[in-house]
Amino acid sequence: MTDTLTAPAPRSAESATVYDPLWNGERIIPRRIVIETIFGCNAACGMCVINHPTSRKKGIMPLDKFKHLIDRLAKYSASVEMLDLFGLGEPVIDPHLAERISYVKASGFRNTAISTNAHLLSEERAVDLLKAGVDTVIFSIDGFSKEVHEAVRARTKYERVVKNCVNMIRLRDSRGYETRFVVRFVRQPSNEHEWDDYYRFWRGVISLDKRDLLIRYDVHNWSNQIDNTTTRADWRDPIIEVAPCHHIFEKIVILANGAVALCFEDILEAQFRFGNAFEDDPIDIFNSARFNKIRKLHTAGKRCNLNICSGCMVLCNEPRRVVVSDLASSQLLPMSSG
Ligand SMILES: C[S@@+](CC[C@H](N)C(=O)[O-])C[C@H]1O[C@@H](n2cnc3c(N)ncnc32)[C@H](O)[C@@H]1O
Ligand code: SF4
Repeated sequence: MTDTLTAPAPRSAESATVYDPLWNGERIIPRRIVIETIFGCNAACGMCVINHPTSRKKGIMPLDKFKHLIDRLAKYSASVEMLDLFGLGEPVIDPHLAERISYVKASGFRNTAISTNAHLLSEERAVDLLKAGVDTVIFSIDGFSKEVHEAVRARTKYERVVKNCVNMIRLRDSRGYETRFVVRFVRQPSNEHEWDDYYRFWRGVISLDKRDLLIRYDVHNWSNQIDNTTTRADWRDPIIEVAPCHHIFEKIVILANGAVALCFEDILEAQFRFGNAFEDDPIDIFNSARFNKIRKLHTAGKRCNLNICSGCMVLCNEPRRVVVSDLASSQLLPMSSG
């Protein structure tokens, strides 16, 4: 098996099926849904905004509200390529996680994903998630040594994280589950020197022939919400800055309190307050006049008139993303958020 090191397809090609640059305001069904099942975390990663000041209260999305939301979204399941069950928080803390995954799968969605820091991912929890039918599990591991990983991912223990991840992969292998694993490294000044060793180790643990992936992408600044000294000073790209952002056309982001955010970068506060998916139809909110007004700014090449979009590094970072896989890039599922 040979690895393919792929940067993503050019954005215009990647998102061609999602929106036309001359988008005329027609109703959009998102191909990706992000539902933040819990806002709260056991860890305190330096590059994450989870503990920044916000009006939001920490907590778990109530199970009845979650099921009601899935019932409303189920009629779109055929168009949805990926349903992420995590946002700004650690999904494994949630005791209902396996039940949520089973509910989503029974409602007809093809792909569910979680991203975890893996510190609390005991064998019992891993088996529950595999049995529930989770399609993709992303392991967020940000170093190859204890010192470096724990400096980035405060309050996690490196040996425990590695043991939990390797164990879940082995359980998948020995019991024949279909789950795909993604080992994900957020490259930043404190850990970039460890990438080569990290790559060699995790490349030997995952199975590319089971569609597992190893991904590296660069730390971003949560639209200027974290100090830019931890990120790249030279990230701006004048061409990308006038291009519309594909995320606001293809992905709806629903927070644990039901609020619909502009995108994953708006997840701390949902500053635009488009609506609440517990009260109104989430796809109507996604297609509301206010949301469309922002899309029109984007298609007019004026997204940088908005502070959140002007400060956002995500699109500029995408061309530097590295995906280790044995799939052609056209066969890759859309990447989960974060
Ligand atoms: C917000 S976390 C939530 C899920 C889970 N707690 C985890 O850590 O995987 C989702 C993803 O965002 C990534 N992330 C957090 N802050 C980031 C930043 N400043 N730049 C790039 N990725 C970031 C994390 O590494 C993780 O892979
Ligand atoms: S990146 Fe994930 S694990 Fe780290 S603090 Fe944020 S939510 Fe928690």
